Amino acid sequence: MLRICVCVSGGGTNLQAIMDAIDAGTIKNTEIVRVFSNNKNAFALERAQKHGIDALAVSPKDFESRDQFNEAFLAAIDEVEPDLVVLAGFLVVIPAQMIQKYRNRIINIHPSLIPSFCGTGYYGLKVHEAALERGVKVTGATVHFVDEGTDTGPIILQKAVEVLPDDTPKSLQQRVMEEAEWKILPQAINMIANGEISLQ
Ligand code: GRF
Repeated sequence: MLRICVCVSGGGTNLQAIMDAIDAGTIKNTEIVRVFSNNKNAFALERAQKHGIDALAVSPKDFESRDQFNEAFLAAIDEVEPDLVVLAGFLVVIPAQMIQKYRNRIINIHPSLIPSFCGTGYYGLKVHEAALERGVKVTGATVHFVDEGTDTGPIILQKAVEVLPDDTPKSLQQRVMEEAEWKILPQAINMIANGEISLQ
């Protein structure tokens, strides 16, 4: 059974997709042992609680320094001994010591086809604003392993989504979530849970 900890910061639609996929059996051999958020008000926490899943919020604002928050964050993850950490709309930089400790055991969903529209400053709606600004005809989402860089780890899955002429950042974000994110993140977790992913 793959023990996963899902880290969230906002609405939690990707978390919901994971929970629904486990319930539907499209993700097998997997258990969410904790949902962690840096944001006490994240609706994602309510989604977890409604599903009977342990939900913990630790805010950087409650600490004197980022280092102290990072220590508390890592302790909250270690406590549940996850096999895999899933970043699902998580907006906190992962501390270096956590990346080392969980080498190739942290994955992230990014709302573009990496290497386009990624890296520092590209998150949430900003990704789709940049895609529309550039005038791309196709965008999508990427699931990748997390390394020390920003959106630079080995790519696991990608799914393309057409950009429509009348798209706004919001309409494009919604379609990328519906048609790509909510499909490939559960798919990647299922592949890892069933030994279908190997890193070269
Ligand atoms: C989405 O745009 C997702 O691509 C990004 O964070 C945003 C919110 O995700 N990773 P969620 O609804 O909190 O899962």
